[in-house]
Amino acid sequence: MKRTWKNFLAIPFLIVAASCSQPTVSSEPEAHAPTMGWNTYNTFNLDINEQLIIEQAEAMANSGLKDAGYRYINIDDGYFGGRDPETGRLLIHPVRFPNGLKGLVDHIHSLGLKAGIYSDAGTNTCGNYWGKDSLANNVGLYGHDAQDCEMFFNELGFDFIKVDYCGGTTWQNYYSIGIDEEERYRQIRQAMDETGRKDLRLSVCRWNYPGTWVSEVGDSWRMSQDINCSWRSIRNIIDQSLYISAYASKGHYNDMDMLEVGRTLSQEEDMTHFGMWCILSSPLIIGCDMTTMRPETLELLTNPELIALNQDPLGLQAYVAKDGGNGTYVFVKDIETLHGKTRAIALYNSTNEPQTIGIDYSTIELGGTVKVRDLFARADVETAADNISIEVPAHGTRIYRLESTQRIERSLYEAETAYLSEYQELHDAFSVATAYYEKDAACSGGAKVVNLGRKPKNDLRWLDVYSETGGEYEVTIDILPTPEALQISEWDSNPGGYQFFLSVNDGVGNRVRIDKDGTSATITVTLPAGSNVVRLYDDRYLMPGIDRMTLRKL
Ligand code: GLA
Repeated sequence: MKRTWKNFLAIPFLIVAASCSQPTVSSEPEAHAPTMGWNTYNTFNLDINEQLIIEQAEAMANSGLKDAGYRYINIDDGYFGGRDPETGRLLIHPVRFPNGLKGLVDHIHSLGLKAGIYSDAGTNTCGNYWGKDSLANNVGLYGHDAQDCEMFFNELGFDFIKVDYCGGTTWQNYYSIGIDEEERYRQIRQAMDETGRKDLRLSVCRWNYPGTWVSEVGDSWRMSQDINCSWRSIRNIIDQSLYISAYASKGHYNDMDMLEVGRTLSQEEDMTHFGMWCILSSPLIIGCDMTTMRPETLELLTNPELIALNQDPLGLQAYVAKDGGNGTYVFVKDIETLHGKTRAIALYNSTNEPQTIGIDYSTIELGGTVKVRDLFARADVETAADNISIEVPAHGTRIYRLESTQRIERSLYEAETAYLSEYQELHDAFSVATAYYEKDAACSGGAKVVNLGRKPKNDLRWLDVYSETGGEYEVTIDILPTPEALQISEWDSNPGGYQFFLSVNDGVGNRVRIDKDGTSATITVTLPAGSNVVRLYDDRYLMPGIDRMTLRKL
């Protein structure tokens, strides 16, 4: 007998019971948490139909996935039937969906689930270009924003839309319409708002981090090329996620793409894939066939403690607390309370060999006694009093919830954890003068920020520099030698050195000066109690590469 979730549920002794009362996600998902659902594309590609989607929706409703928080049944590319040449009305594929989509959406809703649809910001879809789906030409939103949004959301009742961009690019299109992504996605969000629906989610699909504007329009946005069911693809997407934690916020998330869990990856790789998507607060959109899931797939996808980490009310994405320099990383994020005593960490091994990965609790600002819970095993574990050190298998990840008795004030802020106001990955950063993150083994934390300055908005912001009581601090900024950023001018009292500005909460800028052979500068600033924004900027000149900021309370 093939083992699937249906016969698995009939064998109660196989079900691993939760061993104690840890906080878990309630069956009603958090309103502003990452989307949890399923999408047709990873398993079925363009070859979709009504019956298949009904079966998947029923499997979600009955397998325990709905109870674990999964809600959205998302129809991806493949349903298009062209456009009516007279009225411009979008048509639905006559063979795959002979009854249209209204009854299907109603059925999904009747199961207590939500329904999602797919379109393109341009004219044709990716399936039209890559899949040669001739009926998916001229079906994108371009020129039809109001008409299609009215149909999707008010007539058919969809709750979610993924908007792709093949029809907006020249290289994946049969002709060029020369559109701008920011302008187009803003127009689409506006058309969605104008339907009067307040509960709609927009998933932006632009295959790289699009730019900081995207938080104003998208509930989530893709930050990588399409995922595929290989370890290489999972590793690459995690690698592209290392330094973009600052762009996630409550209700707005980096989308690491739909899950390949439960297909052909090893169980260890599936755990890394799911666990990292959880701690990095990606939407969790299942991509396997939910009607034939293996029991271990269902158990992983419904692990309430990992899901709680993903749906955590703070909406934070974990950042790199330690780069082991050998393909291992420790990620950390606050959970439950900002600056509180509870944090979550992931020990991630991207290499092909087992690796011992560890970190001192003080490095992640925890002190006193630390209680440790393994979220995969769902069991409490013992560690040394002041650190954790674990052998993690090849391609493996271990994730822990740490509950300490003391939170230490953070004194190290790596540049690669900061928010860059002009950050984007779509256009050449030199031509458009936007800063970016770069790996550099010589840097603390293994990375730096370069190409800052030259214009007012191209700055670096540590958005949450926390001072428990407020007061005076010595702030040290470490930089990298950057010959192009040396300033030589008559008015400058520091000829041949570096100069830029530092402000607190957008107050008056403090001049930061560093000799041409220097690598750091220390100034004194006052931080009010609570959360502060420390900004580094230069409106006119290129700034040196920034490594990190350290704080010392005076
Ligand atoms: C693009 C998207 C995928 C999927 C396909 C459909 O490649 O990135 O997620 O939607 O189009 O054709």
